[in-house]
Amino acid sequence: MSDHPDPGPTRRWINALLGLGIVTTISGFASSALAYLWPAARSAGSEFLVGSKGPVRADDIGPDGSVVGRSRLGKILVVRRQDALIGLQATCTHLGCTVAWNAASGEIECPCHGARYNLHGEVLGGPAREGLAPVLLTIEEGGIRVRPARES
Ligand code: FES
Repeated sequence: MSDHPDPGPTRRWINALLGLGIVTTISGFASSALAYLWPAARSAGSEFLVGSKGPVRADDIGPDGSVVGRSRLGKILVVRRQDALIGLQATCTHLGCTVAWNAASGEIECPCHGARYNLHGEVLGGPAREGLAPVLLTIEEGGIRVRPARES
């Protein structure tokens, strides 16, 4: 005689549902992780700014608008101010969060610990000690080309 009686169809059904739930959870997590990594991999070697929907074009950024995209230089913040596009590294120099343009305040802000920068990348306040490095932008047919402000 067995110590473990037959679990019966109800218990097998519950086990199957639990297994399906685990598989669904794992596959959902895996697809989210791949979706997060895919744009980075696609843009890792690109000199052009790539956003979540593909290459970013100058017309995609309205007056006082901004976009954060990726290029071979990493995350880049592009802000349209008057008719000019201004490009800066988008990684906060404090602990590496992604900064954002605040059109109302006219400052670049870090959501993590409150660092603030001006459009030259200079620190205005908060815990950051170093500014955001500017990048050179050129508008081309293929999109916005990003290059270091200082070639090394
Ligand atoms: S990471 Fe930006 S202020 Fe801390």
